[in-house]
Amino acid sequence: MSAGSLAPWLLTGMGGVLGWGIRQSLPQHIFALAGRVRPDFWPDAPGIRLDLAAPGEFRAALEMLKPSVVVHAACMSRAQECADSPERTRQVNVLAVEEWLATTSSMGSFPLYVSTEQVFDGRAESYAETSPVCPLSLYGETKAEAEAMVLAAGGAVVRLPLLLGPEVGRGRCGADTAILNAVRAGRRLGLFEDEWRTPVAAAALGPMLWKIAAQRIPGVFHLSGSESVSRLQLGEIACELAGLEPNFDAVSAASFAGPPRSLKLNLENTRSQEVLGWEPPNLRQSLAWNSLTHR
Ligand SMILES: NC(=O)c1ccc[n+]([C@@H]2O[C@H](COP(=O)([O-])OP(=O)(O)OC[C@H]3O[C@@H](n4cnc5c(N)ncnc54)[C@H](OP(=O)(O)O)[C@@H]3O)[C@@H](O)[C@H]2O)c1
Repeated sequence: MSAGSLAPWLLTGMGGVLGWGIRQSLPQHIFALAGRVRPDFWPDAPGIRLDLAAPGEFRAALEMLKPSVVVHAACMSRAQECADSPERTRQVNVLAVEEWLATTSSMGSFPLYVSTEQVFDGRAESYAETSPVCPLSLYGETKAEAEAMVLAAGGAVVRLPLLLGPEVGRGRCGADTAILNAVRAGRRLGLFEDEWRTPVAAAALGPMLWKIAAQRIPGVFHLSGSESVSRLQLGEIACELAGLEPNFDAVSAASFAGPPRSLKLNLENTRSQEVLGWEPPNLRQSLAWNSLTHR
């Protein structure tokens, strides 16, 4: 089925920072939503209740909607929460993906899976779309496992870096907003000076996802920003642009007590630039984008 057909495109994970970003640029009239709670910023698309932790619910939703495209962004994405609840993580991040692909394999539905930089261990200088995965955390492991299933089914995998964006409700916000909120509240933060990411504005991503889905382009894409920055640099530049006085302690990621963290996650965008025309924004562009699109 093509994008112009009546079958809807189904989006999961609409309540996250990415869901907010997609909402800014995709033609919502072709979307149906599946999730646990409908966020305020998606008031109009048809919605269906879906809890990925309940086996069979994804299958029932898919059989009812028969979507021509599924953009699957929902997952358990907090590394600590995954480590604390490994069985639930496996159900939500792996078994639900297996259920999705098994159900839609005979529908001609195109699978687009949203993944993460966390499928890499952070020991290399940077990672290409062709680099073999090597996750450190359970979160990264389950995302890598799901990626492999989607690729075997002929779908697309879009790996994202740290996302920047506003508060989107239910305690969720982009990494920049989390830092700025703390500064505004007068809290002194410790920010890693030795952990590197290539962050991007969530609002920049919609047109690229739209293009992959409309043209049904299989394989792996990276959609990251052009600049590698530490969390400390992110905080300093975000404060500068927001006109706030930085209030940070520079700390080492080695001091972090939680699940293993990948130190250097620099995503290369070679294929997405060549095939999609992705123009990776630098950090200031992404931060400016957020202030423009913030509502
Ligand atoms: N945020 C980042 O910095 C980042 C970086 C790299 C990759 N990503 C990827 O981008 C995607 C979206 O991330 P995000 O940050 O926008 O989302 P998020 O804030 O982590 O929220 C997770 C989303 O998944 C949904 N979800 C979680 N458990 C669910 C369940 N049992 N049943 C149904 N839905 C469930 C949540 O629904 P509720 O609203 O009902 O809780 C929410 O919409 C993920 O695949 C993530 O791996 C994100």
